[in-house]
Amino acid sequence: MKVIKINLSKNSYNVYIKQNLLESVGSHIKEFNLGNFAIILASRSVFTFYKNKIEKSFAKFPHSIIVLPDGETAKTQASLFKIIQGIIKLDKLNRKVFIVCMGGGTVGDVGGFASSVYKRGIPYVQVPTTLLAQIDASIGGKTAIDLKEAKNILGAFYQPKAVFVDPGFLNTLKKKQISEGLAEAVKYAVIKSSAFFSFLVINYREILSLKPSSISKVIDTCAGIKAKIVEADETEKKSIRTILNFGHTFAHALEAASKYKKVSHGEAVSLGMLYAAFLSKKAGSCGMNEIYQIRDLLKKFELPVKCKYDLKAIYKTMSYDKKNVSGRFRMVLLEAIGKVKVVDGIPEGLISKTLKEYGAFI
Ligand SMILES: NC(=O)c1ccc[n+]([C@@H]2O[C@H](COP(=O)([O-])OP(=O)(O)OC[C@H]3O[C@@H](n4cnc5c(N)ncnc54)[C@H](O)[C@@H]3O)[C@@H](O)[C@H]2O)c1
Ligand SMILES: [Zn+2]
Repeated sequence: MKVIKINLSKNSYNVYIKQNLLESVGSHIKEFNLGNFAIILASRSVFTFYKNKIEKSFAKFPHSIIVLPDGETAKTQASLFKIIQGIIKLDKLNRKVFIVCMGGGTVGDVGGFASSVYKRGIPYVQVPTTLLAQIDASIGGKTAIDLKEAKNILGAFYQPKAVFVDPGFLNTLKKKQISEGLAEAVKYAVIKSSAFFSFLVINYREILSLKPSSISKVIDTCAGIKAKIVEADETEKKSIRTILNFGHTFAHALEAASKYKKVSHGEAVSLGMLYAAFLSKKAGSCGMNEIYQIRDLLKKFELPVKCKYDLKAIYKTMSYDKKNVSGRFRMVLLEAIGKVKVVDGIPEGLISKTLKEYGAFI
């Protein structure tokens, strides 16, 4: 079993990566002494595909499963309160409950947030089931729900007690969902490693077809990069963690503007990274060549590169972004493949100009 340590003094935990780990998650969890009753949050699809395997894994551990809606609907205010009501019903006098988030990034985000606020914090673990959640969302303790005004606007930093990654889950994902996860893999390559970028370019076919050695390399590399960044800046106080938001200011605005329905997070990140790269060119920090390299890799991964959405609405929702400081934007700009920088005070004018010209450029 591969183990990646996240060293955060009293908030430290491990990411365990192993094929078919789901089979033994129930017994592993016992060793952590988190409580005596597991409340498993699973999205509808995960429940449908894995109900029997989950029951088998937790056969010797008292538990109950709460089924959440698929997709971003799991991260709404209504869904959060349903989860909390569900937990209250299960939280009996003789029980010490903890949460197991078993699903994509949406289940991890809302489950982690519910864990952080219920009785001012109960333990939780992550069992990520999408590629996006395995390489990104399940690690690092950012938890949140969306409001209609803005994505992830209500949230907390709250670390899980462990992350259990079973690449076997990926076999039941749709092709499109694999691609969505790969948008975040491209992000890691762009912000931190030109060698990993080359690996993605050379091996894109094997990665898309989930060849075990290739997909393992993707999971290990991304989880490793995220672990180091989170260790260096757990709560994003030093701007080190901010680079993980490359492409995300635009992506989150696009998701909110499309009411979390038309465009998925991975698709929005694909477009957001190209937008950020285009903005970087306008701000003079990179050239066209880097933008085309990113665009071509995103195309190889069958991700969108052309934005067909209402850019005015996107611009409006960008103003709610948490990274927006007194009318000027904090953005992550591209310098070279593998290197980005955080820049404060990008004027609104440059943002709107970039948005206007983006459609014609790409
Ligand atoms: N907290 C963080 O640091 C962080 C980082 C990146 C993204 N995110 C968040 O993650 C969310 C996106 O996550 P996502 O892309 O995993 O989407 P998702 O959670 O909506 O999952 C996508 C779909 O796949 C289904 N699914 C999940 N696992 C499956 C499996 N093994 N087989 C078949 N179907 C399965 C889900 O039910 C859902 O319908 C966004 O809300 C984003 O903001 C959070
Ligand atoms: Zn993301």
